[in-house]
Amino acid sequence: MPFGNIKSRNPIKSVITQILGWPSLIRRMQAPYLMKYLVLKKSDNVLDLGSSEGYMAYETAKISKVFATDIFLLKYNVNYITAQQKNSRFMLSDATKLPFKDNSFDKILLSSVLQMIEKDKEVLSEIKRVLKSKGVLVFSVPTKYIFISRIYNNKILINIISKIFRIPNTYGSFIKDMKGKCGSYGKGNYTEGEIKNLLQDTGFGIEEHIHAPGFFGSVVYELILFLSYCFRLPLFNPFYVIFYPVPYVLDKLIKINAGCEFIFKVRNKA
Ligand SMILES: C[S@@+](CC[C@H](N)C(=O)[O-])C[C@H]1O[C@@H](n2cnc3c(N)ncnc32)[C@H](O)[C@@H]1O
Repeated sequence: MPFGNIKSRNPIKSVITQILGWPSLIRRMQAPYLMKYLVLKKSDNVLDLGSSEGYMAYETAKISKVFATDIFLLKYNVNYITAQQKNSRFMLSDATKLPFKDNSFDKILLSSVLQMIEKDKEVLSEIKRVLKSKGVLVFSVPTKYIFISRIYNNKILINIISKIFRIPNTYGSFIKDMKGKCGSYGKGNYTEGEIKNLLQDTGFGIEEHIHAPGFFGSVVYELILFLSYCFRLPLFNPFYVIFYPVPYVLDKLIKINAGCEFIFKVRNKA
């Protein structure tokens, strides 16, 4: 069964997830790394914070006990996943005020959430509180778009493209516009140094980190994103996941240390 093959209320999306799994191109490329860093065990109590539609919670619950929380949850998905995976529970809650006792979880997953929230330090402090001593946090955050930033570096090219498609003409204004479209109130993206400082300030020790998707995955993902943006197509169409296998294989074969997002595995020092 493909990773994240949960049924969906939307029949077209359901067909895609049954055949190809999690219908997000970037998450589909990141999932193997998230799972590798989590090293799930049967005895683990896991929190999937900002779980959204619950694809990771569904897969996590095949091995461990999982709580999934978000400020928005889809009733159909919650009912479907909890019926399929008895190890899973969902709860509405804000990441800055989690309804759990101190030291509740062995592992916490924060997939593409930190950049959405203005009070990022508060989120990490709250995670530290509910995470057991020496517990593991695995999180992904966007860094800089490697392909789109190169287009924006070429002033002549971007002047032509921005006039034809009526899109922002600087990288900064493009990112601001994207943040608005994604409903993000947070930083949007981080440099490696910013993440490391944040982790040091909140008491986490870094164990591993990687660019995921890698270079080829990022180029394909960003190209699709940029074209969708120019042509006013849905930015995150589930159909885009059909492009996933080729960059995934290329990134496995040819290692280039660059990518548009980071995945970090860190440990609660306390
Ligand atoms: C980009 S989505 C990522 C969802 C999912 N983790 C994934 O990997 O696909 C960000 C999620 O963060 C959630 N979110 C935003 N602000 C939040 C907050 N203050 N507390 C909890 N979740 C939040 C959003 O509702 C959304 O589902």
